[in-house]
Amino acid sequence: MPARNGDIKIVAGNSNRALAEAIGAYLATPLTKAVVRRFADMEVFVEIEENVRGRDVFVVQSTSFPANDHLMELLIIIDALRRASARRITAVIPYFGYARQDRKVGPRTPISAKLVANLITHAGADRVLTLDLHAGQIQGFFDIPTDNLYASPVMVRDIRERFDLKTITVVSPDVGGVVRARGLAKRIDAPLAIIDKRRERPNESEVMNVIGEVAGQTCLLVDDIIDSGGTLVNAADALLEKGAKDVYAYITHGVLSGGAVARITASKLKELVTTDSIQPTEAVKVARNMRVLSIATLMGEAIGRTASEESVSSLFD
Ligand code: R5P
Repeated sequence: MPARNGDIKIVAGNSNRALAEAIGAYLATPLTKAVVRRFADMEVFVEIEENVRGRDVFVVQSTSFPANDHLMELLIIIDALRRASARRITAVIPYFGYARQDRKVGPRTPISAKLVANLITHAGADRVLTLDLHAGQIQGFFDIPTDNLYASPVMVRDIRERFDLKTITVVSPDVGGVVRARGLAKRIDAPLAIIDKRRERPNESEVMNVIGEVAGQTCLLVDDIIDSGGTLVNAADALLEKGAKDVYAYITHGVLSGGAVARITASKLKELVTTDSIQPTEAVKVARNMRVLSIATLMGEAIGRTASEESVSSLFD
């Protein structure tokens, strides 16, 4: 798709260059030449090698592993662009890390998601474009316009192509994810089940109660993040115990820390489908039961619409 605003520039950090390039290809806009590198002591150094004066600039950077380095790259790229007189800077953050720290979990603990939002704003971002925020309210942590896109249209297209929808039940792996799972279930007109994790007494292991009918069904677990994989593997086991025919998972952000890929590969999950909001590692690409859907077109379309001041929300009607 040709860019609808000749002024746009796309700058990529190092977190997910492949996605940035795919977005650039969709918008027929090559990535702006920029150097984002480290000094010997690992300080980040950025040099934008093209004129961006007066331009509408989109910085594509997920704050994925190593989270702090990628966050720092994002901040420093924004600073460089601001000092280079860019007209408008949009931080395109397909995976917004630190989002799970969105409230005080105890006395004397931080709200790091708010701190990170402040850092991005103070660095000089004018707008934020992100995807499947861990909680929609995090939008309010930014005092600049923030669009939170949804990967669900990409997932729904894939689900429609692969499954007989009559036998599908969408499952939220925990009570916190019900709104997200319900949204996807509605789009494919499927029933919803919920896994309610409870620790009956201190020091006893959690009991997984399945609320809803799953026997004989193909269950699709839906969540925003897979990190260690523990939530999904336990949920898959609980569903199979209740007679589910098989279990798949559609998760937006494949954080996949530590031994997560091995855990998923060894699990009873038929398939884990993630998106490329976080650049998939080689291990993910070759894993027997993992597949990655691209959100490049979705993000590219949203960037094009932002540049030409068109509605972004209508992408999800
Ligand atoms: C939690 O609220 C998130 O939505 C995910 O369920 C969680 O981050 C998954 O973590 P893990 O894969 O480590 O169980």
